[in-house]
Amino acid sequence: MIPSRPRCVLAYSGGLDTSVAVHWLTQERGFEVITLSVDLGESRDPAQLQERALRAGAVSAHVIDARDLFVRHFVWPALQAGARYQGVYPLATALGRPLIARLLVELAREEGAASVAHGCTGKGNDQVRFDVAVAALAPELTVVAPVRDWEMGRSEEIAYAAAHGIEVPVTQESPYSIDANLWGRSVETGVLEDPWVEPPADVFAWTQEPQAAPAQGTVVAVGFTAGLPTSLDGQPLEPSDLVERANLLAGANGVGRIDHVEDRLVGIKSREVYEAPGAVLLDTAHRALEALTLSRDVLRVKAQLADEWARLVYDGLWYSHLRQCLSAFAAATQGHVTGEVRVRLRQGAATVLGRRSPDALYRPELATYDRAGDRFRHRAAEGFISLFGLPLRTQAEVQGQLTAPDDRPLLPPRSHRRIAGPGAG
Ligand code: ARG
Repeated sequence: MIPSRPRCVLAYSGGLDTSVAVHWLTQERGFEVITLSVDLGESRDPAQLQERALRAGAVSAHVIDARDLFVRHFVWPALQAGARYQGVYPLATALGRPLIARLLVELAREEGAASVAHGCTGKGNDQVRFDVAVAALAPELTVVAPVRDWEMGRSEEIAYAAAHGIEVPVTQESPYSIDANLWGRSVETGVLEDPWVEPPADVFAWTQEPQAAPAQGTVVAVGFTAGLPTSLDGQPLEPSDLVERANLLAGANGVGRIDHVEDRLVGIKSREVYEAPGAVLLDTAHRALEALTLSRDVLRVKAQLADEWARLVYDGLWYSHLRQCLSAFAAATQGHVTGEVRVRLRQGAATVLGRRSPDALYRPELATYDRAGDRFRHRAAEGFISLFGLPLRTQAEVQGQLTAPDDRPLLPPRSHRRIAGPGAG
């Protein structure tokens, strides 16, 4: 009896790379290939995906709708953490990879496969995210990365596909490398490789050109319960529906375009254009509600950790102890982040118009500048300041005054001033 071939579960997108990979893994590496296509909201036709995978030589083709899992377990923690890599990138692609990796691992175990595969190149972050996630979840599995291994460029891949009768969606071929899920769309390569070049109109698919968007804009109220978005304009929505709706609303108003020269983990600077309309809207609203409901100390420490969280997830360390700990901290801050934020979306801008919460730490009777109803103890400020300033006063007395920017007086000589009044001259 011929021994059965080893099995490999391939993350399959239906594009050129992974379609060629099905054939290559089968023919060149002797695997029985099982494909897994994970729908994170990029709206591909599942039947077509399966058909294409099987025709390329897969023994079975699985398609999973993981949109809800993605939003609940990956997007929401990112929103709660306030994470944006290098201050701008809401991490859409980086958040999708660990979920796909986990599903690959589960399917590999179910199918008795000793290997999993992905179609990432050797130049990007995504290979790191897959490989490290699989290593963390299933150290016994081997990861195969055909695109990293084979020595084919794009045109050779097309030739390979033609030679082996692999159908590839050349009609849908774009001049860019694109990855999309519910949390955003990442676009690279082509003319974007020149960071001086303005992104042409064909880069964008989710966002209206801001100047062409309706001049009156749209006002939307985002409702949060314990730090999670739960409604839009008072209408309760399921997580993935809410994100989808946020993408449409903000995208129609040109909100969410991000153009960034980014530092990849592999040491390369890379020009990236993102569309993340829903992420920008929800993040803007969430921050505004946090400012109303969280203490100054929590806000400060949380902002420091947000950067750390973003870097870890960008670097592919989702399944690390530190990421778990940081997420636990972020989650612990969210209990009172409940309320509503009104945001105006207009011609590329998302502007907070108002916010309210039953748990607001904002107290009108403390904040007011009106005498009537003012409960702030003005007199107490004096004693507070005398103790707050005590260390500086002491230091000035003992060690001398710290004069910056230099020792000479900053006050101009009397001859260089305009002086009026009975005491002048
Ligand atoms: N630079 C972004 C990231 O590393 C986007 C990557 C897009 N991936 C892709 N295969 N086109 O998260």
